[in-house]
Amino acid sequence: MKLINGTEIAKKVHEETRRRIATLQARGITPGLAVVLVGDDPASTAYVRSKDKRAAELGIHSLKHELPSSATQSDLLALVECLNADPAIHGILVQSPPPLHIDEAAIVRAIDPRKDVDGFHPVNVAKLALDDPTGFVPCTPLGCQRLLVEAGVQIAGARAVVLGRSMIVGKPMALLLMAKGSGGDATVTVVHSRSRDIAAITREADILIAAIGRPGFVTADMVRAGTVVIDVGINRVDDPTAAKGYRLVGDVDFDAVAPKCAAITPVPGGVGPMTIAMLMANTVTAAERCAA
Ligand code: GUN
Repeated sequence: MKLINGTEIAKKVHEETRRRIATLQARGITPGLAVVLVGDDPASTAYVRSKDKRAAELGIHSLKHELPSSATQSDLLALVECLNADPAIHGILVQSPPPLHIDEAAIVRAIDPRKDVDGFHPVNVAKLALDDPTGFVPCTPLGCQRLLVEAGVQIAGARAVVLGRSMIVGKPMALLLMAKGSGGDATVTVVHSRSRDIAAITREADILIAAIGRPGFVTADMVRAGTVVIDVGINRVDDPTAAKGYRLVGDVDFDAVAPKCAAITPVPGGVGPMTIAMLMANTVTAAERCAA
């Protein structure tokens, strides 16, 4: 069994990003990223902090906007309008999920698609479905694909099973793996909460992407020997022995599943660092396109 080290692969992506930033800076351009957080959800707060920190380390101009959970739809729309108009900002990310009184889809539609480094805007979703490379692809599935490529996994012709159909991971993941060409050409099945006999489907997988947000959902009986497993889950489970009172676990029962796998990502240290790496790369792409 090979452990796919997301931290190491993310480092490689950051090195590429650093070189691209240097090229832009030589032309007097500093990529700018605005990260917006509404409310104080602990996991979202932690993600936003790491995105902001990583951007600053790479030399991306990073602006963190933290709004109280009482912020209104129009407060948020006004902020997005302001960021759309700001020439120093090339990428805008509104952390998901916002509080329930916010119409998230309307906020996403308000973001200039050229600054939508999350790839959530309908224009970018359509471009992914249309194999149009001028859009932005959501960071987590893009990171998963890069992990497979860097680990030398044969994707073309493989049976890939995606567990989960979210707009952030499952759906774009399926589109990426089925796209024509490098990193794609897989035969993709998407499994979700209404699927029948999930284990029979996942046992057919050469590549299994688990993105359902349920700790330890994928058990050993659901995986055939020799499968490559990418675990997207980042679930907090109570653990009184841990310093923070919780620990992070994936959607895969790692200890039981790992021995059967050809390769698997750990949690933490697998997909998580890649999501941030691809966000930084997308932000630099936005700045490059703006400068072209
Ligand atoms: N919440 C969980 N993942 C993501 C992501 O990739 N982008 C945003 N904006 N919110 C998220």
